[in-house]
Amino acid sequence: MSAPVLAIEGLCKRFGGLVVADSIALGVEAGTCHAVIGPNGAGKTTLVNQISGLLAPDSGTIRFAGRDVTALGAAARARLGLARTFQISSVIGGFTAAENIALALRARSGSALSPARDAADIAARTRRLLAEVGLEGMGSRLTAALSHGERRALELAVALALDPQLLVLDEPLAGMGREESRAMIDLLTGLKARTAMLLIEHDMDAVFRLADRVSVLVSGTVIASGPPEAIRTDAAVKAAYLGQEEAS
Ligand SMILES: Nc1ncnc2c1ncn2[C@@H]1O[C@H](COP(=O)(O)OP(=O)(O)OP(=O)(O)O)[C@@H](O)[C@H]1O
Ligand SMILES: [Mg+2]
Repeated sequence: MSAPVLAIEGLCKRFGGLVVADSIALGVEAGTCHAVIGPNGAGKTTLVNQISGLLAPDSGTIRFAGRDVTALGAAARARLGLARTFQISSVIGGFTAAENIALALRARSGSALSPARDAADIAARTRRLLAEVGLEGMGSRLTAALSHGERRALELAVALALDPQLLVLDEPLAGMGREESRAMIDLLTGLKARTAMLLIEHDMDAVFRLADRVSVLVSGTVIASGPPEAIRTDAAVKAAYLGQEEAS
């Protein structure tokens, strides 16, 4: 089996007396989607922040694409192809959709080409990315004027501009209606061939449709990890989380 794209070992993080990561071990294989589920406050976003480099763990290691990135900052990890999206939409409202993508493309590529060729190249790649996330022809729209679902799609295009080996998605369906959710799930399904994914999501239909592996995080501890079918029927998981979701 090939080495995992992401391999986390012994990850620990506390906020004062609150343990939010308790010796977390987790891996994401190339070409797969690994979902992390768990109740509110379980530590999912804190885990994503540590993986993406926004937050330093107290101890433990994070290996990405075969190298130890634990000491690297978020920008360095992004340049290596580790992209993330945020629980709360994060694109720049005063920019157009195309400008947001072009900014990410320029950050990724530096400026190796001549300015004119560079501009044409960036424009073509921007159009391709817009089309890829279902925003064809919407490049000149101001981001602030996009619908919530369109903004989430744009955020995904910005992440894809990094040409990621791993896409870390923190609740990509949060706040979406049924139609928007379905479109996003279809989009993510199509992206699985292109990049590995670590998916945080409360929508269990999406998790069980997309994930090849599911880990359950409760109070900073991974209480179960396995294929979706095994997780769905795991008694401890039902007690800790799924039962609660069904009841709510
Ligand atoms: N910077 C911080 N300082 C102190 N406590 C924090 C900080 N960030 C998060 N927490 C706390 O850590 C715990 C885990 O938060 P986190 O946001 O990781 O949970 P989550 O699993 O993403 O929850 P949700 O499903 O609501 O998004 C929560 O109790 C939260 O209040
Ligand atoms: Mg969260």
